[in-house]
Amino acid sequence: MASFSGFEEIVKTGEPLAPHTWFGLGGPAQFFAEPPGVDQLQALVVRAKDSGLPVHLLGGGSNLLVRPEGVPGLVIHLSAPVFSHIEVKANEVFAGAGAKLGHVISTSIREGLGGLETLVGIPGTIGGALHGNAGSRGGDIGQWTCHATVLTTAGRIIERSREDLVFAYRHSSLDELAILEARFQLEQDDPVELTKRMQKQWIQKKAAQPLGHQSAGCIFKNPRGMSAGMLIDQAGLKGARVGGAEVSNRHANFIVAEQGCTTQDVLQLIEKVKTQVAARLGVDLELEIEIW
Ligand code: EPU
Repeated sequence: MASFSGFEEIVKTGEPLAPHTWFGLGGPAQFFAEPPGVDQLQALVVRAKDSGLPVHLLGGGSNLLVRPEGVPGLVIHLSAPVFSHIEVKANEVFAGAGAKLGHVISTSIREGLGGLETLVGIPGTIGGALHGNAGSRGGDIGQWTCHATVLTTAGRIIERSREDLVFAYRHSSLDELAILEARFQLEQDDPVELTKRMQKQWIQKKAAQPLGHQSAGCIFKNPRGMSAGMLIDQAGLKGARVGGAEVSNRHANFIVAEQGCTTQDVLQLIEKVKTQVAARLGVDLELEIEIW
């Protein structure tokens, strides 16, 4: 704890990360902190830098697989209320990085603001969604983002406006250490119509994806113009297993963790899928999830 002396009330050692992820797998964080405010967050980041420790930002843990040996350095979780506020002003929604994307979507709809409803069913936080430009066939979060406040590895807060932001398929130029807050410019619409659209999309998603299972959403990115799920399905891999990890029978780009599954099982199954899709269909799949 020498590296974080003076921060004993905020920093824990050896916090298990599995309960913080949707996969529910993997080892502990060397150091883990849930800072109560921005000042403490900045101070922690500066201390980690001075101590030469890597820093990782944990969002909702829904797109993440943690290795069995755990994560060296400091894992920060922006769970305090100050990081998860949601505020609506005219046709703009302000949200803290720790706010759940689902809450931001429901608040927007209630206020008669449209755009984000196409993202219904995507788990995780605003920070995580912006980091990977989460999206669906109907659009992505980046297209509605007009401003973001970020924190650098040096502990400095920087404002980034629309002209300064680049979003592409599952990619965003918000690559500083942490996203703190974002502002979305939405379109006025009828809440009843928005709710109907959202419900339709939610029903389609629930039918196509194993959402009630332990998984991390789509494992691989879609190769340009193709669907990774369709390719894995075509390669005959639905139901393929390693230990407790299984390629979902509902959607082949999901790996679901059954009872007793380990991170190693998932990693081996990922390798198997990659190798067989390359061998049978000549396509190299790229990971969408993060592995720590
Ligand atoms: N398909 C199959 N077999 C499967 C899965 C899909 O044949 O096992 C076919 C479907 O029948 C459809 C096509 O592949 O004709 C595309 O499938 P789908 O509409 O489910 O979309 P996707 O391209 O597989 C993408 C995103 C999802 C997002 C959905 C819906 C990626 C990697 N996936 O999936 O995002 O929810 O569109 O908008 O971009 C995620 O990022 O974690 C994720 C789940």
